[in-house]
Amino acid sequence: MADGLSRRQLFGRAAVVSAGVALAAPATAEAAADDGTVEVSFVLNGKPQTLTVDPRVTLLDALRERLHQTGTKKGCDRGQCGACTVHIDGRRVVSCLTLAVTVRGKQVTTIEGLAEGETLHPVQEAFIACDAFQCGFCTSGQIMSAAAVIAEGRARTDAEISEAMSGNICRCGAYPNIVAAIRQAGGA
Ligand code: FES
Ligand code: FES
Repeated sequence: MADGLSRRQLFGRAAVVSAGVALAAPATAEAAADDGTVEVSFVLNGKPQTLTVDPRVTLLDALRERLHQTGTKKGCDRGQCGACTVHIDGRRVVSCLTLAVTVRGKQVTTIEGLAEGETLHPVQEAFIACDAFQCGFCTSGQIMSAAAVIAEGRARTDAEISEAMSGNICRCGAYPNIVAAIRQAGGA
């Protein structure tokens, strides 16, 4: 292609790019209603959000169905695949096993909030450079997990990365490239 990127690279770039980052203070309003719903306020990708939710609603469903953050994927919906990984106050969690009400007053980051505007996060850049995806379904979870693994200082060797990333399943088997991308992004 004219700009030197292949069709696959462009597709991949679209899969790992997310928009919209701004810093803001957390809002902490909360309330209970007669119908059992509760109000939860938190900061999503730098922007204050307030939702009224059934207390049984997962963070994953709140993100995807109420806040339209569909970069976070629903794979198994039972904590076994890592496709739904997001950050809460900088720590990775599987959002399918996290109740939305538990993020009250916290900072939630999804793949949509990882880039700084047009500037990709180093892990996103590395996934593209290392061709670390095939279908892309697991990719947002892999990237969110990888960013946290690097921040945790657990990306020093391939074995360490594989262990730290063991909760993120890739049905396409892109593991060698994923590990390579994490090593590149982590400077190992
Ligand atoms: Fe959450 Fe699989 S969808 S771990
Ligand atoms: Fe297809 Fe990981 S790239 S599941």
